[in-house]
Amino acid sequence: MGDLWTTRVFRFFMALLTIILLLKIFGYYYPIRAREKFIGLQGQTNSLNDTDLMDKKIQIHLLDSGNPAKGQTLMDKIRKALKAAAEKSNSSFNQQFNRNHISNVIPTKLMYEPGHMLDEIDEDRICPYKGKDIKVLFLTNSALGNAEARMAIRQTWGHYASRIDIGHAFVLGQGTNETLNKAIDEENYLYGDLIRGNFIDSYKNITLKVISLLEWAARHCSQAAYIFKTDDDVFINVPKLLEFLSTHSAKRTMYGRLARNFKPIRNKLSKYYVTTDEYAEDVYPTFILGPAYLFTGDILHELYEHSLNRPYLWLEDIVVTGVVPESLGIKREDSYCFANLVTTYNPCVVNYHVSLHSIKPIQQYDIWNTMQNKTTKC
Ligand SMILES: *[C@@H]1O[C@H](CO)[C@@H](O)[C@H](O)[C@H]1NC(C)=O
Ligand SMILES: *[C@@H]1O[C@H](CO)[C@@H](O)[C@H](O)[C@H]1NC(C)=O
Ligand SMILES: *[C@@H]1O[C@H](CO)[C@@H](O)[C@H](O)[C@H]1NC(C)=O
Ligand SMILES: *[C@@H]1O[C@H](CO)[C@@H](O)[C@H](O)[C@H]1NC(C)=O
Ligand SMILES: *[C@@H]1O[C@H](CO)[C@@H](O)[C@H](O)[C@H]1NC(C)=O
Repeated sequence: MGDLWTTRVFRFFMALLTIILLLKIFGYYYPIRAREKFIGLQGQTNSLNDTDLMDKKIQIHLLDSGNPAKGQTLMDKIRKALKAAAEKSNSSFNQQFNRNHISNVIPTKLMYEPGHMLDEIDEDRICPYKGKDIKVLFLTNSALGNAEARMAIRQTWGHYASRIDIGHAFVLGQGTNETLNKAIDEENYLYGDLIRGNFIDSYKNITLKVISLLEWAARHCSQAAYIFKTDDDVFINVPKLLEFLSTHSAKRTMYGRLARNFKPIRNKLSKYYVTTDEYAEDVYPTFILGPAYLFTGDILHELYEHSLNRPYLWLEDIVVTGVVPESLGIKREDSYCFANLVTTYNPCVVNYHVSLHSIKPIQQYDIWNTMQNKTTKC
């Protein structure tokens, strides 16, 4: 009996070992081989000179970042930056490439192409006179396909932008789907409120989106007293926010829901995996949760400039409300009225909060209606 069990346990572990081994081969070794084959690097590493090797490595990087077909421009930019770095430190390209900070991560500045598609944006309505009279400029990150969410916002809380002292616009990237592009052009022709940056709109490019948002505001609305960054699945209680502002008058400050002692996830299998190249320390600085944060207009330009001066990390809130302001000595204040998930939207919950997150388009109307009900006392 005992022997039988030992055999079973042994077999079980052998089977387990085989499965792990197979997973390793297919999950790790195979992709590396495939990449090398793809770019023709197989077996010829030694015969390549530095310049060629560097080009190959940049190609691997672009392949890893899901972007093998990236045009010549980015390659040239990276090559130039590496050459300058190599000359400065008197080392070879290859040594430079293998230094941690360049080996796996593209500096944000090289990824970001400044500027926006400015035609048709109604700048005079969103932010007249560079924001001289603007109390709050709301900038709402939106994905290309979320036309319904944008419409719900325009017809509910976004309507406050008809006030002279409040501005609102959506921030988007660009897409390759011609049908969708045409629909967005039409939408912008009708509403003039779509700010579109020079980057491909995607989840992992969300930091580029926020940098684009900062750039637009710094260029076109630098006098605004406050900027409110939000997403298209957030409801904003504008009167509550104005009440909040009437009791605050700090400079160089960001407000929202603080996240403290969050750690980078180092598990390669996680969707939120962050390499030590992207972020080296074990703990993130205190940051503000991304769906809704408010900040004083006086730090716009600094936030923009400094967000570009670091390795690219796609977790936008950690970069823009954590790492960067921490390095600039910008204060972050916790405000409980910036909510994340709440499960009921009764009048008291709605009246108490500046922002509510994870709101479907249809719920924007419900919450808007709830907010109009003045008969309840909370
Ligand atoms: C590197 O090798 C390629 C051919 O593989 C050659 O065209 C190029 O000039 C070489 N570069 C240097 C810096 O030697
Ligand atoms: C750069 O390195 C070379 C050889 O490795 C050495 O001869 C030279 O003195 C170095 N130059 C500087 C400025 O350090
Ligand atoms: C392009 O967008 C349209 C509208 O959103 C969608 O119906 C279509 O499937 C998309 N085409 C591709 C190739 O993704
Ligand atoms: C992010 O944007 C850059 C710049 O437009 C683009 O080259 C890249 O493909 C985008 N990344 C993803 C994952 O879409
Ligand atoms: C307003 O709220 C009160 C109390 O919650 C409720 O009885 C009433 O039906 C609401 N009115 C509307 C128009 O929803």
